[in-house]
Formats: sequence, structure tokens, C-alpha cells
Amino acid sequence: MTRSLGTCYYPEHWPESQWAQDARAMADLGLRWVRIGEFAWSRLEPTPGTFDFTWLDRAIETLGNAGLQVVLGTPSAAPPRWMLARFPDMLAYDHEGRPRKFGSRRHYCFSHLGYRQAAAEMAARLAKRYAKNPHIGAWQVDNEYGCHDTTLSYSPAAQVGFRHWLRTRYGTNGGDITALNAAWGNVFWSMEYGDFEDIELPHLTVTQANPAHMLDFRLYTSDQVVAFNAAQVAAIRAHSRAPICHNYMGRITDFDHFKVGEDLDFASWDSYPLGFLEDRVGADAHHQRLYARQGDPDFQAFHHDLYRAVGRGRWWVMEQQPGPVNWAPYNPDPAPGMVRLWTWEAFAHGAEVVCYFRWRQAPMAQEQMHAGLLRPDSLPAPAYDEAAQVVAELKDLALTAQTAAQDNPPNTQAPVALVFDYKADAAWAIQPHGEGLSYFALIFETYVTLRRLGLSIDICPPTQQDFSGYKLILAPGMIEMPETLKKTLNQASTAGKSQVVIGPRSAARNAHLCIPLPLPPALPLARSQLDVRVARVESLRPDSPIAVQGGGNVRGYREVLEGNAPTVLSTVCGKGLAVREGNLTYLGAWLDYDGLRGLLTPLCHAQGLETMNLQGGMRVRDTGHERFWINYDTRAHVINGRTFAPVSVTRDDLCKTRKG
Ligand code: GAL
Repeated sequence: MTRSLGTCYYPEHWPESQWAQDARAMADLGLRWVRIGEFAWSRLEPTPGTFDFTWLDRAIETLGNAGLQVVLGTPSAAPPRWMLARFPDMLAYDHEGRPRKFGSRRHYCFSHLGYRQAAAEMAARLAKRYAKNPHIGAWQVDNEYGCHDTTLSYSPAAQVGFRHWLRTRYGTNGGDITALNAAWGNVFWSMEYGDFEDIELPHLTVTQANPAHMLDFRLYTSDQVVAFNAAQVAAIRAHSRAPICHNYMGRITDFDHFKVGEDLDFASWDSYPLGFLEDRVGADAHHQRLYARQGDPDFQAFHHDLYRAVGRGRWWVMEQQPGPVNWAPYNPDPAPGMVRLWTWEAFAHGAEVVCYFRWRQAPMAQEQMHAGLLRPDSLPAPAYDEAAQVVAELKDLALTAQTAAQDNPPNTQAPVALVFDYKADAAWAIQPHGEGLSYFALIFETYVTLRRLGLSIDICPPTQQDFSGYKLILAPGMIEMPETLKKTLNQASTAGKSQVVIGPRSAARNAHLCIPLPLPPALPLARSQLDVRVARVESLRPDSPIAVQGGGNVRGYREVLEGNAPTVLSTVCGKGLAVREGNLTYLGAWLDYDGLRGLLTPLCHAQGLETMNLQGGMRVRDTGHERFWINYDTRAHVINGRTFAPVSVTRDDLCKTRKG
């Protein structure tokens, strides 16, 4: 793995006479990759069945001759207008039952089998034509599944598909409606169905629809994204050996990325730190103001770690914010040095490539107010120089590296594992039990606590079968915990090598979002159960936290625990919050930073893990051979007598330090 840079380019936006100059300028800057094509369908097939790939041939040739490797996108995120004449029912429908019309992008429903097929055919055409082209280094399927809230669709196509999916899920011989009624608990409020054809999509109901109904609809929808992607992957693989990826997003959790990722060769994601700050991170106004020009200090890192897992170790940043974007509530310029910082932070988390979005700012249409590496007049924008600086630094590193590992560090396993489960996110969204409570927020706050302790983290899928090597494993909020995962975690804790912390609200429901018996969490231990039962749960007003003995607070959500397992954490009034047997802890509360730090610090020390108490926007990330100190703040930090400059990345070469 060699760290390198790239950009996103749209040859169809510029006169052909400009392509060669652009390609040369990209190569001169030191870029190695260029992604193209992902919105170009109207130029590839201007009218149904009339294809024109000749311009794309020339564009690829021009970019390739300049020494660039091309990532070719399939154009299914932007079907041309004529596609609607072919498939008038292909549009997605919003929650209010209205079609989401043509005139921007992502105007399709994942459930529409005709469009799915058309998209796969286009992918096959591209793959066939460019399979042997030496300039094609990788493929990107579609663009940002889930962007603009397009995963959940209440369309007629989804209605048909959902009924079919339910029949398959609930009985093999055309479906067993009794089994569905029992699994969903439809006797409640007389919601029982006599036939699968009576089941509608769970929207526009008088009050909340049955949680089991909603969960199944979300799982069905996620399966459609997986199938849509898989159809194009199969079409490409039939012709091409180049690796295939998709570009995922920040805090889009409405389909199972791990499942989509299983069909792909690597993951990539689109990182817009300032764009995310206001409505994705979930931080308060003070935090937003403090980091308005830097982005949240953990949000990017979290997704780097998440997509490293989705890509099974291989991942890129396919789109990196280079300056102000156009789509967030406010769109400030990044602080000087941030583009370089974001790039190095991605490398610190194992990115192979970071591509800047986009090469040149577009003078037309929706994204005119979105910066690029170049201004619309082709002069360098501020990010250009920062990208050039990273190129120079990568070169220096390659020259001074004493070993291949220093130049191309492998993704070594982190000491801490945090389980992330998309199904749990759906379950929390359906039954949050309190305003503002979400799985993502719980996981993210846990992640931030671990990072402020100075720890490096691997995010793991719920299907992870081997946790050996992890000193600390956390699985908060995983509402349905399959028995296999319970056993795997139990093994990790009983082998004596890992401390395992489960909860709050883990193993709390069965597969259909019903309370199981025996009462949750029913965690197995080597010889007996961890004797704890969640007798009752409560959600808390944001202004009514409960103080924890030793410091910190319970906020948002608390469980009343019963049983004989020894209590290891309590409220100041002596109510148990966490219990432990051996190395297995069950935590029955959503703790704030100080509360969780109090619980985790002694566990880390018992495991020989050094902890810090990082302040503000100072963070650390270890790759195994290197330690990166990253300062998101516009003020310096001093740690153990060492000064870290404002907005900076400092790389310690651990090989050298160890040697010398
Ligand atoms: C991404 C998208 C790009 C572009 C960019 C602007 O979400 O993939 O096509 O729209 O945002 O920030």
C-alpha cells in the first residue's frame, strides 16, 4: 500500500481542448488518481440505445497518457430524462407518498427491477469496453447510496418488492401469514393480516406503525441497496479484473454497508468535515462555533475506522473537501492547514488514496459555490498548495523511510474493538424511547471517549468471528445481539485476554424487536449466566442527568438492573449502573465522557493499555509503526512538555524512536 493523492474530474463539463492541459496539471501537482464518469449517462447514451463512448475513450486516453490512473464511475446515480419515459414508475417516493422528480440526481427507487437491470447493462457496457484499458485502475459503482435521503422509498415498486420479500422471509411455500402475525405481535391493536397482499408500507399510519413492521421494511430496503449494487458488480466482474468500490457517506446508516461491502474489493467515502459539522455530528452550538473552520475532531476519524472495516482493511477517501462546500447550513472556508491535516489524518487511519473533490470549481448548475483545487478560471485555489505540500511530504517520507513498512505502513490491528451494527441503528431509530437518543450518537460518544483516552480503535462488524488480540471490546446499544456474537464475545472474555463491555441496551430485543425471555441481556459466561436482568428502562430529560459515583453522569437513558452479579459502578445514590463477572461487564446506562472514562480507565490499565486525557481537539492515532498527533484546535497544545502547533499533524516514526 503506497499512500497517494487524486482528484475528481468531469471531462464532460469542459471543452475537449482543455483536457490535456488539465491532465498535465494534475500529474504536475503529483496526483496519481482521477475519478471520472459517475454522472455522465446523458452523454454516454444521449437517446435510448444510441451510445457514444468515443469522447470517454479520448478522455481516458488523455488522462492515462499524462500518467494518471482512472477510477471509472458507473453513471447510475443520474439516469437521463428519457429513462423516465421508459420506466415512468422508477422514481422513489418520499414518506408522504410523493414521487421525487427529475431535475437533480438520485431519482430512482432501489426496488425498481427495470431500472436496476438498465443500470447493470450500462455497467456491463462500460466494463466490456474498458476491461483491457491499461489506464483503468479501479471502478466506482453508482455514487453515494443514500445521499439526499433516497434509501427508504414508499413507491409502488417498493410495495410489490416488500410483499415478495416478506413471503420469502416468513415461510417457503408462498409465505405463512400466521408466522408473520406471530413474529410481529399483530394481535396487538388487531393488526393481524389475512394475506401478504394486505400488507402496506409502514408510513402514513394514524400513529406509529408496528416496530416489527418498520424494522422489516428497513431490512428489506437495505437488501435492495445490496442487490442494486451487486447487479452492477457482477456486470463489471464479468469483464474486468480491476478492483471495485463504492463511495459511502458520513452518518448514513439506513442500509447495511457491511453487506454492500462484502461484494466490493475496497471501500471509499466522501469526507466533508465542515459540511458535516452542523447537522450530522450532533454537537451543540458552542462546539460548532469552535470547530466551524476545522470540522469535528472525531467525526472523520470515526468514518475512516468504519470504512476500513467495511472495506475489510482497504479503503480510500474518494472525495475530500477542499474549501467551502455549497450544501451545508453555513459554508465557511477551512482554516489554513486543514486540507493538509484532513489528508494526513486519513493516511494515519490507513487510507490508500485521498482524492480531492473536485479538480476545478464548476461555473454552472447546482455546485457553483463549491470550491475545487482550481478556481473556475483555472488558477489555484488555497487547497491546491496544501495538496502540493502533502505530495512533497509523501516524497520526503519515501526517501527517508528505512524500511518498506515505514513508507507503506500496513493496517495493524488496534488494541480496542468497537462493534457497529446497522440493524441496531434502525432499531433505535424506530424505538428511541427518548428524544435525541440514537444508536449513532451512543456509538460516536463511546468512540470519542476512547479517542480522548488516546486509544486507537478498530470498528468491527457484528459478524466478526475472531476478536483475539483486542484488549478491550465494546458493544454498546446493539439491540439484537445474535447468540453467535454473544458466544464470541464471551470466549474473548473468558480466554482472559480481553475486557468486554456490553450495553446499555444490548441484547435487549429479539430479531423482531420484541422483548425476549429470559429478560435481557442473558449473557452467557463459561459456567453460568452473568446474573443480571434489565427489569425496567427509563429515558431522561436532557436537563435531568443522574450523577455517577466517582464522577460524570448518566444522560439520556438508564436501565434498572436486577440480579446477583457484583456491581462495579453506581449512581451517587447507590443504584447499580454496571455489573461484572470476570472480564465481562454489562453497562446499563448511557454515560457521559467523565462517567465512561471512570469505567474504562481501570479496565485499560488492567490490560496494560496506556491512557491519556486529551483535551480540546488534540487526538492521537497509532498505525503500528507511527504515532500521529493531530491538533484540530486553532491553539497550541502542550503534552508532557512537547508543543503541538495549532492545526497540525505531527508524525513520530516509532521504528526510529525504538531504534534510537
Ligand atoms: C458529494 C457528491 C458529489 C458532490 C459533492 C459536493 O456528496 O458525491 O457528487 O455533489 O458531494 O460536496
